[in-house]
Amino acid sequence: MTSSGDTSDGLFVVFEGIDGAGTTTQCERYAARLRARKRLVHVTREPSTGPIGSLIRLALTHRLALPPTHQAQTMALLFAADRLDHVAAEIDPHLRDGYVVLSDRYDLSSLAYQSTTSSADDDEGTLRWIREINRHARRPDITLVLDVSPDVAAARRRGRGGAAELYDAAEVQARLAEAYLNADALVPGDRVVHLDGDASPDTVEAAIAAVLDALVTDVPQKTRAAAPPDSPAGNS
Ligand SMILES: Nc1ncnc2c1ncn2[C@@H]1O[C@H](COP(=O)(O)OP(=O)(O)OP(=O)(O)O)[C@@H](O)[C@H]1O
Ligand SMILES: [Mg+2]
Repeated sequence: MTSSGDTSDGLFVVFEGIDGAGTTTQCERYAARLRARKRLVHVTREPSTGPIGSLIRLALTHRLALPPTHQAQTMALLFAADRLDHVAAEIDPHLRDGYVVLSDRYDLSSLAYQSTTSSADDDEGTLRWIREINRHARRPDITLVLDVSPDVAAARRRGRGGAAELYDAAEVQARLAEAYLNADALVPGDRVVHLDGDASPDTVEAAIAAVLDALVTDVPQKTRAAAPPDSPAGNS
């Protein structure tokens, strides 16, 4: 199913949106739907749980100081390195085993976040550079963008609690929401579907199922015996 040129049988789905758009909620809900149907599903996220992803989390929570003059560029490079590790260590092996892989964020996040927070004046140049350092990252089969208004997302983040993170500022989130509305231009050639993320969780879930169920049906069913040994239930 995957369109990157790699031979694989699974389906690679990416969920995207600003902070509080509901990507984590909806990844989990769709995974539960697939598990109930006895499909092989693997939920993952970026930054990944690998070594470079752990470094990124420290930077996002201000426990790791980055070079102040090139903070956005350093983050972009860390995210690109984490992505290649994530693909090689986690995404590709599951796709080869026939899993539906649901990733909470992928390189569209890099294009949206790093271009929005870069201090460089040359936006097009910044985007070209981010695409270049992500050139070897396999393409998703489909990317779902949960478009949500910045005020709604901010209220949800407040409700969720936790410490403020690097990209939390309202003005940054407003520019990000704009960037996501133009997501198709950020990842030319990719299949991108926009959904109304302001709607209730059940409504968003139904809209996602309406898009994804047909694609999942086309994924060849593999038996659980084909699942990797570290995830015997096929629910990793
Ligand atoms: N459609 C929705 N309507 C109302 N509340 C929602 C909706 N989707 C998620 N929430 C709630 O909003 C909060 C943020 O949701 P969630 O963690 O899924 O967002 P996120 O996009 O993953 O955020 P982040 O990018 O910060 O990880 C959670 O408390 C969640 O329960
Ligand atoms: Mg989340």
